[in-house]
Amino acid sequence: MTSDYDELISLLKPHGQQHLLRFWDKLNPVQQQELGEEIRRLDIGVLTAARSGAGQDATHDLSRAVIPPAIRLQQPDRETWAQSAQHLGAEALSAGKVGCLLVAGGQGSRLGFDHPKGMFSIGPVSGASLFQILLEKIVATRDRYGAAVPLFLMTSPATDDETVAYLSEQRNFGLAEDDVHIFCQGTLPAIDAQMHKLLLAEPGHLALSPDGHGGMLEALKRSGGLDALRRRGVEHLFYFQVDNPLAQVCDPETIGAHLMAQSEYTLQVVNKRDPGERVGVVVSIDGQMRVVEYSDLPAEAAAERAPDGGLKLWAGSIAVHMFAVDFLQRMAADPQSLPLHRALKKVPYLDEQGRTVQPQQPNAIKLERFIFDLLPHAARGLVVEVDPAAAFAPVKNAPGEKIETPEYVQDYLMAQARRWLAAAGAEVAEGVRVEISPRFALDAAELATKINSGTKITRDTYFT
Ligand code: UTP
Repeated sequence: MTSDYDELISLLKPHGQQHLLRFWDKLNPVQQQELGEEIRRLDIGVLTAARSGAGQDATHDLSRAVIPPAIRLQQPDRETWAQSAQHLGAEALSAGKVGCLLVAGGQGSRLGFDHPKGMFSIGPVSGASLFQILLEKIVATRDRYGAAVPLFLMTSPATDDETVAYLSEQRNFGLAEDDVHIFCQGTLPAIDAQMHKLLLAEPGHLALSPDGHGGMLEALKRSGGLDALRRRGVEHLFYFQVDNPLAQVCDPETIGAHLMAQSEYTLQVVNKRDPGERVGVVVSIDGQMRVVEYSDLPAEAAAERAPDGGLKLWAGSIAVHMFAVDFLQRMAADPQSLPLHRALKKVPYLDEQGRTVQPQQPNAIKLERFIFDLLPHAARGLVVEVDPAAAFAPVKNAPGEKIETPEYVQDYLMAQARRWLAAAGAEVAEGVRVEISPRFALDAAELATKINSGTKITRDTYFT
């Protein structure tokens, strides 16, 4: 009978990774079992794929890139169009055909917060967490349209336990238990910078990290999420990320645009004005749509101008998407087909003597899958331009950085509250902090029904 050790060696040896069992004899039986499970779960094929660079960062001929079918903010018929789109979106919401997909499995390393990022307090007056603000938008949408909007929430091994406990303690901020499906994404191993060896984080644990927001497809399928969507009759999923409290969750106009175009993959985009803005751009090359990351966009292509003086490649993705569930189902037949992206990062690891090394310089390759790599597979796609002031303010960085810090995001939230209050005829005194709970008003029109014109706001106020 072969021992666990022998079996694991036979798995690792063909790939030159026996060093992962270097400390085997120092582990107790439970630790040995855990390490064995990690190694068995490991798709060691990713090592070969990562080394070959298969599928990743392919160079595209951006000289042929054009903007895909787009709804622009300033187009002459936008008002009339918006009314029809909103109507269609509202119908789909009332019929229970729309669900939400929130990805919250990231490690939030730039922000440097020790808990899942969704628990980060961001409400400028209330201190509400990102989860609270985003989930309350779903609750308010459910109440407005009179139909459940199920939430599929992706965590990772790094965020799962705490997220589950937090949401249970907060009673999902008002969402029914049956309408919250939490599922955990998979992990991928870190490899040394020379791409020779997988790294150990501890004697009994590999250095693993979440497999990127693209891990959503596989995890949704494995957890039974796709089947649940079918069972519930959900036909379209509104995808957003946990770090953007301004996300227009289930915006009926975007949903309607997606339906009108019979799109399989719709993206909210913003008009990129400065070539240096660090957002991916949505392009179409020979009829196939894709998102080109800012790091892959050559400076000349980024700076090229259209006849109207704007950037030729103007459609900056803000990571808010609509997916047809049929499309996801089709794509999920082979979730591994999403390419692996490599990034050189600082990854703590165990050296040969078993000491933990905290590298000062990037030392290892982390692997990730990106959700937008699904886009080229969509039979029909669409981009819908939105106003960044009303849709996009992600918390990415720790205080002290230039942009996308907590303070920067709070300024966006307060500026939006001030605009809505001004539109309702209220006066907000200089320097006063204002915040509107999504449960109080989801948009400026709803707020106007609740605030009397002429109201004066002279101290910090949370409308709830
Ligand atoms: P980011 O790419 O900003 O990564 O994630 P991050 O992990 O939150 O932050 P850094 O880069 O470590 O500072 C964008 C969105 O995708 C989710 C995040 O939770 C966030 O909502 N995400 C990212 C996942 O759900 N899983 C991942 O593996 C990566």
